[in-house]
Amino acid sequence: MRYLVTGGAGFIGSNFIRYIFKKYGADAQVVNLDKLTYAGIRENLAEYEGQKNYRFLQGDIAKIDDVVEAYKGVDGSGVDVVVNFAAETHVDRSLMEAGTFIETDVHGVLVLLEEARKHAPKLKRFIQVSTDEVYGSIESGSFRESDPLNPRNPYSASKAGGDRMAYAYAQTYGLPVIITRASNNFGPWQYPEKLIPLFVTNAIDDLPLPLYGDGKNVRDWLFVDDHCAGIDFLIERGENSETYNIGGGNERENREITARILELTGKPESLIKRVADRQGHDRRYSLNTDKLAALGFRAETDFDEALERTVQWYVKNEPWWRAIKERSAEFKAYYDKQYGKR
Ligand code: NAD
Ligand code: TYD
Repeated sequence: MRYLVTGGAGFIGSNFIRYIFKKYGADAQVVNLDKLTYAGIRENLAEYEGQKNYRFLQGDIAKIDDVVEAYKGVDGSGVDVVVNFAAETHVDRSLMEAGTFIETDVHGVLVLLEEARKHAPKLKRFIQVSTDEVYGSIESGSFRESDPLNPRNPYSASKAGGDRMAYAYAQTYGLPVIITRASNNFGPWQYPEKLIPLFVTNAIDDLPLPLYGDGKNVRDWLFVDDHCAGIDFLIERGENSETYNIGGGNERENREITARILELTGKPESLIKRVADRQGHDRRYSLNTDKLAALGFRAETDFDEALERTVQWYVKNEPWWRAIKERSAEFKAYYDKQYGKR
């Protein structure tokens, strides 16, 4: 299989490429198109650089020339599958500046789809990686794929735009699109602005853990390998034009996650710092995953064990996150702006 993976220098994209190479080895060819924004780290996949079935291309999914080049594949022969992970992904950043979210998460998807039209009917799949956040918040019960979308922040609104644009291209032009809506991912190589890696690395350094509001917001946690396995499964077994929820079945309040991180790092509760809530903070995300289960897939990783493994990964890979937190001027400026006066 010849893959075009976009955003493959980010958290989930890099885990996905590693997953594919581990599973399919030399049978897989991967082009990784990534703009290398603040969140893109090419070295995440250093082990594959120079391999003849891997090609890294620095470029923007919203720029047609970059996209045309990427669709040529590793060796000019084209691609069979596109998996679009490329996105601006952090809700808090979308509250500071939303324009780049529209540019990448909506317009970028459009550019990728337009180029896909030129490669149909040879293209087998176009996976648009969407998110549970497009449904908005739910107090009780769980969202099904058929539920209306009700995004409540600029990040989720732009992801909903990309999600529906992909659907529109499936309906209008018959492109082989599948849309996935996954819940909150965690695992190795997650940029340390997101809850789990931020709190783990702050705890290691005895820095405050800035818990928003009452800490009772609920997220459903999905180990990143389960997300990758779900996408791989859908490339094989999913139906075109369909949308599939990929949930972990691990709903936890943020304060529970925080307490567990402190336990695992052996740090005191006094590190918890209650700070002003996020504006428009979605209270709870929850996915009904029956549709994917009916096809034969379920996320299998045990949450507690995976969280422990994840914490250990950050303990063992200090140079990776210190390069970001201590040496990136961009990260420091963001951190000051986000948490400085909070
Ligand atoms: P990330 O922020 O870690 O990585 C995003 C990657 O996209 C980076 O490498 C960045 O350089 C690249 N990128 C950004 N703009 C680009 C552009 N215009 N052109 C090319 N590359 C660009 O994000 P992530 O957590 O790995 O998320 C990947 C995808 O999964 C996103 O589409 C996100 O919406 C979706 N998703 C994430 C989660 C989660 O919990 N992290 C849950 C559900 C869905
Ligand atoms: P985050 O990792 O940003 O993911 P998302 O907002 O996409 O779900 O946040 C997860 C939860 O953790 C969310 O309810 C907000 C909360 N949170 C904090 O309490 N403090 C923080 O510093 C961050 C980054 C998140």
